[in-house]
Amino acid sequence: MIKIAPSLLSADFADLASDIESIKSADWLHFDVMDGVFVPNISIGIPVLTSVRRTTDMFLDVHLMITQPQRYIGDFAAAGADLITVHLEGAAPEDIHAALRRTRALGKKAGLSLKPGTAADDLLPFLSECDLVLVMFVEPGFGGQKFMRDQLDKLSALRKIIDVRGLPVLLEADGGVNPATARLCAAAGADVLVAGSDIFKAQDRAARIRELRGEI
Ligand code: DX5
Ligand code: ZN
Repeated sequence: MIKIAPSLLSADFADLASDIESIKSADWLHFDVMDGVFVPNISIGIPVLTSVRRTTDMFLDVHLMITQPQRYIGDFAAAGADLITVHLEGAAPEDIHAALRRTRALGKKAGLSLKPGTAADDLLPFLSECDLVLVMFVEPGFGGQKFMRDQLDKLSALRKIIDVRGLPVLLEADGGVNPATARLCAAAGADVLVAGSDIFKAQDRAARIRELRGEI
């Protein structure tokens, strides 16, 4: 069964507890961190994650859209992240290796993400250190953007590599996910779908989560 991870970026930050309650039937909670340098937007960070951790038992899927993410792995782990995903484009290769290793050493799942312009092959040297690969279907930075269909080939290519090698790596799709594009991602081999605006705009969020899973 495909997992759904609502992105808190589309929630009301003044009313987070009730927005989290409204999506508790989902599988994971996606937490987007932006530093205004790696992406042209600033979102939420460590103190908000600490508060969210106190509010919910959901699996916290933290997506770091920041430069030099290796500096903050310890802080996000201590704040309650279950999975910490860094961007391949965010630091030099040795720092990315260090970030992934540190995440696992702290007992957390380690993820690596690719921007739309980055090729799947660039990730291969890191694959054995990853528990999850996140494929972006929009340029990171903002919710509510249009799904980039041309990234589906990258998703299926990664699915093949993971399956051929028999690696226990989950594939996550993020950006522009709605019931129609969710089908495309599922068919291309995604295990986890992030959806922000589509879920938080829905009248019935629980029903929308079921629809994204393909249950209705
Ligand atoms: C974008 C973020 C996404 C975003 C998705 O940079 O990484 O997680 O919240 O938002 P939607 O689902 O609205 O495209
Ligand atoms: Zn994200």
